[in-house]
Amino acid sequence: MRASVTAHRDFTISRIDDRLYCAFLEHLGRAIYTGIYEPGHPTADKNGMRGDVAQLVRDLRIPYVRYPGGNFVSAYNWEDGVGPREQRPTRLDLAWHTSDSNAVGVHEFYDWCETVGTKPMLAINLGSRGLDEARNFVEYVNGPTGSYWGDLRKKNGRAEPFDVRLWCLGNEMDGPWQVGHKTADEYGRLALETAKALRAFDKSLELVVCGSSNSDMATYPEWERVVLEHTYDAVDHISLHMYFNNRANHTANYLALNEKLDRYIGTIASTISFVKAKKRSKRNVTISFDEWNVWYHSNAADRATLDGNNGWPHAPRLLEDAYNFEDVLQVGCILNTFIRRSDVVRIACIAQLVNVIAPILTEPGGPAWKQTIYFPYYFASVFGRGTALNLTVDSPGYDADVADNVPYLDVSGVHDEAAGTLTFFAVNRHASETLELSIDLLGFGGPGRVIDHQVLTHADLKVANTLANPDAVAPKTGSGVAIDGSKLTGRLPPYSYQMIRVQL
Ligand code: AHR
Repeated sequence: MRASVTAHRDFTISRIDDRLYCAFLEHLGRAIYTGIYEPGHPTADKNGMRGDVAQLVRDLRIPYVRYPGGNFVSAYNWEDGVGPREQRPTRLDLAWHTSDSNAVGVHEFYDWCETVGTKPMLAINLGSRGLDEARNFVEYVNGPTGSYWGDLRKKNGRAEPFDVRLWCLGNEMDGPWQVGHKTADEYGRLALETAKALRAFDKSLELVVCGSSNSDMATYPEWERVVLEHTYDAVDHISLHMYFNNRANHTANYLALNEKLDRYIGTIASTISFVKAKKRSKRNVTISFDEWNVWYHSNAADRATLDGNNGWPHAPRLLEDAYNFEDVLQVGCILNTFIRRSDVVRIACIAQLVNVIAPILTEPGGPAWKQTIYFPYYFASVFGRGTALNLTVDSPGYDADVADNVPYLDVSGVHDEAAGTLTFFAVNRHASETLELSIDLLGFGGPGRVIDHQVLTHADLKVANTLANPDAVAPKTGSGVAIDGSKLTGRLPPYSYQMIRVQL
């Protein structure tokens, strides 16, 4: 089976915002406690942060990490997480039916961000709380000393403002499960007034307003229209979330789901344009896709805790999806979609980063290891920076639940002019046929040479990287990709993910 692609230097989609490769950490399960933070772990630093996890995170070169939630943030008191540890209260977390010692708060999170080379994207509680706490929190984090909140921050160990630039105005406020859930009008008004107050403090802050929790919400996409009509000229991004599952165990339908993601992004891009026109605005609001991932493997195991049958445990195992090889293909397709829609998606956060639906798993007191999905995320984050190319793709396809004629080849291409490289991320969605791939490289000036070729494939779609067998799925250096003149050729085995890099 053949698939051909044309890549032309001048046919581009957009300069990719590096923030397409962000992540998310919530006070949920073991994401924080025994995830990034485990005093007493053999690799822990002086702040109690696990060094083995920090290294795996550092390697991912993540620009921003969203924190502290998630559903958790909608009943969170940020003040509980500052000041002397021994005086911090243990609180019940209403979102996940657990308790939180507050041993980690904004100071500890910020220091960890510095350790791993990332920056915080902070979420504000607009569920149980409102404008006043929002402005206090932002003043505490970014305000000067000589003021009440700045001086309190100094007393708590940090005189310099943290200078956090990126703020989320609540989380999934469209969701009935959310503490303090609101209608689009109620939320739109509150988000606008909060944005105005935050901008009165610092007009250069970057603000993210809540869009839909997923595209199956009954209020989607009317939610976005209403919220944006309230907030359009006061915010920078609208947030979208989407989780993917293969509960039906139908691989072809599962691997077509990024078609639905693409439609979701397209619909909200159109809604943004509609509101922009209606407002006669020259502002360009873009999308912050600040929660995305596969999430379903752990659902049954989590039920008892989420139903409240386990009391209020601290840092239990929750949402610990063990990702399999099939999920590598899914995550590869999702990331390709974000690259192809990088004209409007400026920020995207894999949800989450450690233990909770995460590319990294840890064992308390034991090792940390890479889940299968670590690899496509790593390759995209490290090598998917530059300009997204508008590829022409000619591939046979198949009809799936969510779309017809889904191409077997899912591909994106990135041109890094500074490095003089071209990088292609390709997934073969076919169960049994190899794709004979050819890519015409036009306008790049002279033949290039292949400098890297990584392949992920496995005979067992359901194999996962476990504590006992952490390297079951790992990338291998590929072979057989050749460049003749301006044509690159290669072979994509059935159900495979590949990254091909060309030095121009
Ligand atoms: O990431 C897990 C949860 O998914 C988040 O807390 C919430 O925002 C979403 O529903």
